Amino acid sequence: MMQKVLAWIDVRFPLTKVWEEHLAKYYAPRNFNFWYYFGSLALLVLVIQIITGIVLAMHYKPDARLAFASVEYIMRDVPWGWLMRYLHSTGASAFFVVVYLHMFRGLLYGSHRNPRELIWIIGMLIFIALMAESFMGYLLPWGNMSYWGAQVIISLFDAIPLIGPTLAEWIRGDFVVSDATLNRFFSLHVAAVPLALVGLVYVHIVALHKVGSNNPDGIDIKKHKGADGVPLDGIPFHPYYTVKDMVGVTVFLMLFAAVIFFAPEMGGWFLEHDNFVPANILQTPPEIKPLWYFTPYYSILRANTVNFLWIPAKLWGVFFMGLSLVLFFFLPWLDRSPVKSIRYRGWIFKTALTVFAISFVTLGYVGTKPPEGLYKTLAQVCTVLYFAFFFLMPWYTRIDKIKPVPDRVT
Ligand code: HEM
Repeated sequence: MMQKVLAWIDVRFPLTKVWEEHLAKYYAPRNFNFWYYFGSLALLVLVIQIITGIVLAMHYKPDARLAFASVEYIMRDVPWGWLMRYLHSTGASAFFVVVYLHMFRGLLYGSHRNPRELIWIIGMLIFIALMAESFMGYLLPWGNMSYWGAQVIISLFDAIPLIGPTLAEWIRGDFVVSDATLNRFFSLHVAAVPLALVGLVYVHIVALHKVGSNNPDGIDIKKHKGADGVPLDGIPFHPYYTVKDMVGVTVFLMLFAAVIFFAPEMGGWFLEHDNFVPANILQTPPEIKPLWYFTPYYSILRANTVNFLWIPAKLWGVFFMGLSLVLFFFLPWLDRSPVKSIRYRGWIFKTALTVFAISFVTLGYVGTKPPEGLYKTLAQVCTVLYFAFFFLMPWYTRIDKIKPVPDRVT
């Protein structure tokens, strides 16, 4: 009976073909490790965000007079509303944890290198869309930090010469963040950006399946094929990696549930204290700062404090912040090492990557603190180290002493 139904479908839709090409007969390297969990976990979080977001939108009111109260209503009166909201707010932070680890895996094993440059570039577009999505979502509860955070970030556009003030006003739809801003952010947050994200994730996977996955050895498994044309170091994605990914999903869901049930605010890191106060146009929170996943860039924004070449410090800050993201797009070409994986690179790259990772985390931490004294100095030093990682890369990846790369995966 099942065979007949399948045959009926196959005549009309390539179900078996897609199943085989992308799962049962899609050969992935047999040496995937811990770092290869995060792609499928990012997919899982995307699905969680979309489903919980749809439910939240059924009860939320995108109106400056009602928004804050509607979130409280979801938390107290809507059956399971608190769970939907905590899933969604924790999901936002989990998304960034997973995506940052996913990107770091790329740096470790050279997954951004030829022939996967396009997968990387699409990934970066996903990352920018994700930042826009969470920034706009953060305004929706209409708490005091939502309000002032948006005010600060949108006013950055003011710094752009000539068009700045008009552009900022166009984004807000008003002279200050207001009901008009809330309405457009709601529309973009629930429709436009999620659609773009889903589309980008789809092309990310299409591009990946065109060239095949990299692996922790950074070598091409297609070079050695058996008589049947199957890579000798490849194993079918299903069942081997579907089962492996289920282990990752299980562990992830346990940690995710622990946060949701025991520490949904995460001491102010996932939901800030100032956001439990309704937006007040007359009262700025003592310390305006974004959520943790934006703080590394926020530190870079604030690091420069001098006017230079007739350009005001604020504009330099905006420039450096933009550059800190743009440089990631060029990574596949900045890296000139003959090997991909960190396993076969020399001490220079290993040191550079470690220093970069430490600087990034430090920038994230100092971004949550006032830009004074030691915090300011640390932000400046780490900003220099952050940029040095990219700008010096063509040089140090070329002179670094590499180890011989094996022919087959280890
Ligand atoms: C919603 C966000 C994302 C989703 C759902 C997603 C999904 C995936 C999946 C399922 C894979 C294959 C499994 C794996 O290799 O772990 C993958 C691979 C990859 N992704 Fe992503 N990704 C996302 C964001 C990003 C970002 C932000 C980047 C980098 C800028 C990126 C770069 C890559 C690269 C280079 C690969 C190939 C890795 C390899 O073969 O070693 N992805 N992605």
